[in-house]
Amino acid sequence: MSTNERHVPVMLGRCLDLLAPALREPGATVVDCTLGLGGHSEAMLSEFPDVRLVGLDRDPAALGLAGERLARFGDRATLVHAVYDELPEVLERLGVPRVQGVLFDLGVSSMQLDEAERGFAYSRDAPLDMRMDQSRGVGAAEVLNTYPPGELVRILRAYGEEKQARRIVSAIVREREKEPFAGSARLVELIREALPQAAKRTGGNPAKRTFQALRIEVNGELAVLERALPAAVAALAVGGRIAVLSYHSLEDRLVKQVLAAGATSTAPPGLPVVPERYQPRLRLLTRGAELPAEEEVAENRRAAPARLRGAERIREEP
Ligand SMILES: C[S@@+](CC[C@H](N)C(=O)[O-])C[C@H]1O[C@@H](n2cnc3c(N)ncnc32)[C@H](O)[C@@H]1O
Repeated sequence: MSTNERHVPVMLGRCLDLLAPALREPGATVVDCTLGLGGHSEAMLSEFPDVRLVGLDRDPAALGLAGERLARFGDRATLVHAVYDELPEVLERLGVPRVQGVLFDLGVSSMQLDEAERGFAYSRDAPLDMRMDQSRGVGAAEVLNTYPPGELVRILRAYGEEKQARRIVSAIVREREKEPFAGSARLVELIREALPQAAKRTGGNPAKRTFQALRIEVNGELAVLERALPAAVAALAVGGRIAVLSYHSLEDRLVKQVLAAGATSTAPPGLPVVPERYQPRLRLLTRGAELPAEEEVAENRRAAPARLRGAERIREEP
């Protein structure tokens, strides 16, 4: 299967529309912070023939596949193995002080989900790994087998919004004392058994929230995003635009906060004239979060949870 068949870029038309005015500027550079299989990147390079693209991904496998897909654009595309909060260092190394566009398409790629041995999917038995970059950090099995129970409860609640966290963690702790966890099927089965009937009737597979929580913990996803968003806004030239696609409420909340903070005046109340230094740096381009059209969701199930927000940089730092 070719890379374009394996992944349909989510809300592609709308992402391009949001970024377009900035990417039509002569000499524009856009950063795709989540290159994945290069679907959005390929479209940006095709649609804006003068744009230069910097593509980041922490997953070396994604960089390999995207590299093949984008090879025909030659040196217009520079792909870098990096976690996206390293954006300022990457741009400095490349000698690009400011950029005209930044795109984040958060979460895991369809390739990561489809390759059972990466351990992201709860629907098939596989080693519990879930690292986007398997060359660093610890996998999900180690988290399950070694974290103190209180810490596991916190993770399941905060990152999985799992109401039954305590019940699930008690079962995990009982089981891991018998034998450490290695594969996903045993965890899925245990969650199924631990949950009361009522909790199983809502929200799809009962293991979904626990898997999301483990994935976020293993990859430090929210902490990285919290650092990366302000860094991305800071990297934008005036007139530059940012678009962010999130797939769960925790990500979307962070995105909303950072963009809203940038679009709000920081002036103390009651000033008759607001000095330049207090004025907003961003103008919001989306009203709330935009959702994918029904037709897109019907064709691509993975688009269903997507939330898109965008903003334009309108002012330099004071
Ligand atoms: C949803 S996919 C992107 C798909 C891409 N837009 C496309 O059209 O093919 C998200 C990608 O971001 C990468 N990723 C997730 N978090 C990252 C981070 N903190 N730093 C760098 N890459 C990250 C994942 O490895 C994955 O390949």
